[in-house]
Amino acid sequence: MTKAEQQQAVAILVPGQFNDHAVGRIDRTFSRAWIERPDASLVTDEMRRTVRGVAAFGGINAALIDALPNLEIIANFGVGYDSVDARHAAQRGVMVTNTPDVLTEEVADTAIGLLINTVRELPRAETWLRDGSWARNGNYPLSRLTLRGRRVGIFGMGRIGLAIARRLEAFGLPIAYHNRRQVEGLPYEYHGTLKGLAEAVDTLISVAPGGASTEKAVNAEILSALGPNGVFVNIGRGSTVDEAALAAALAGDTIAAAGLDVFADEPNVPPALLAAPNTSLLPHVGSASEHTRRAMADLCVDNLISWFSKGRALTPVPETEKLKARS
Ligand code: NAP
Ligand code: 8YV
Repeated sequence: MTKAEQQQAVAILVPGQFNDHAVGRIDRTFSRAWIERPDASLVTDEMRRTVRGVAAFGGINAALIDALPNLEIIANFGVGYDSVDARHAAQRGVMVTNTPDVLTEEVADTAIGLLINTVRELPRAETWLRDGSWARNGNYPLSRLTLRGRRVGIFGMGRIGLAIARRLEAFGLPIAYHNRRQVEGLPYEYHGTLKGLAEAVDTLISVAPGGASTEKAVNAEILSALGPNGVFVNIGRGSTVDEAALAAALAGDTIAAAGLDVFADEPNVPPALLAAPNTSLLPHVGSASEHTRRAMADLCVDNLISWFSKGRALTPVPETEKLKARS
C-alpha cells in the first residue's frame, strides 16, 4: 500500500455539522465516519473498530473517547477546547489539537467592534436610520457612554488578549490585565486578582478560556468592583460569567453596559440579557469570516494529516503536548 492509500484507510469521525472546507479535505485524504452529534451511544461497532481520529467543534467527553478504543487524535476546530475532555484524552494517550494563532487577529477585530457597538450604541443607531426614526423623529440621541477617558482591563492576556491590547493602545487607552501569571516584558499593569483588575478599570474585556478555573469568575462582586460607569465585554466563553448576576447588574445600574459574543448555554441567550436596553449581543461570531474559518479548517485537518503521515501534531494542547504517536 502507498502512503496515500494507507491514509485513505484511516477513519476520521466527524460528529454533527462541520466546516465544508474541512469535510472536503477529510474526504479527499481519509475515510470519513459520521454521527449526528458527539454522543457515545451513537458509535457503531464498525466505528469502534476503525475510527482513529475525530474532527469536531468540541463536545468530546470521556464517554465518547472511551467508546473509540483505537482513537489516536482529536482535532478540535477552534482554539478554545473547554468542551473536549483533554485530561481524559491525555490519560488515554489520545492527542488533542486546537487552532491557535490563525484566528487571533479576527477575534481581536470583533472584540473591538463589539466594544464600540456597546459604548457608542452603533447597532441601535443603525436601526434608528433603517426604521425611519431619523426621518420621522430627528437625530439619534447622543450616546451616554464614550471610549474617551476609559481604562481597559483584559481578563486573559494571551494571544487574543494581546492583539486586543495592541489595538486599544492605538486608541490611546491605558491597559491593565489579569492572568494567573504575569507576562514577562509586557508594558501593561498586572493585577494578581480579577477583583483587583476590576477595581482599577472601568472597562473589562474577558477573553479567558472556559473550564473549571474560570467558571462564573465574572460574578456580582467583580461587576460591582467595575462600577456604575463600567462596561463589560465578553469574547472568551460564556461559562466565565454568572449571567444572572450580569443581568441584575445591568438592570440595577451596578454597571452601565455589556457587549457579549458568547453565552453559557449557546444558542440560548437569557431573556433578561436580550431584553436589557444596555446590552449589545452577537451570536458567537468572533472568528466567523470565510477567510478565518478556512484557515482554522486547514489547521484542523493539517493536524490530522501530520499525525497520520509524520507521527506528530502541529498544534497540540498543553495537556497532550508530550504524547507521541503510537507505532
Ligand atoms: P491563550 O493564548 O491560551 O490565552 C488565554 C489566557 O487566559 C492566558 O494568558 C492565560 O494566562 C489566561 N488564563 C487562563 N486561565 C485563567 C484563569 N483561571 N485565571 C486567569 N487567567 C487565565 O488563548 P487565546 O488564543 O488568546 O484564546 C483565548 C480564548 O478565547 C479561547 O480559549 C476561547 O475560549 C476564546 N475564543 C473565543 C472566540 C469567539 O469566537 N468568541 C474565538 C476564539 C477564541 P495564565 O495561564 O497565566 O492564567
Ligand atoms: C469558533 C471559538 O466559533 O476558537 C474558538 O475557541 O470560540 C471560535 O473560533 C468555534 O470554535 C467554532 O465553532
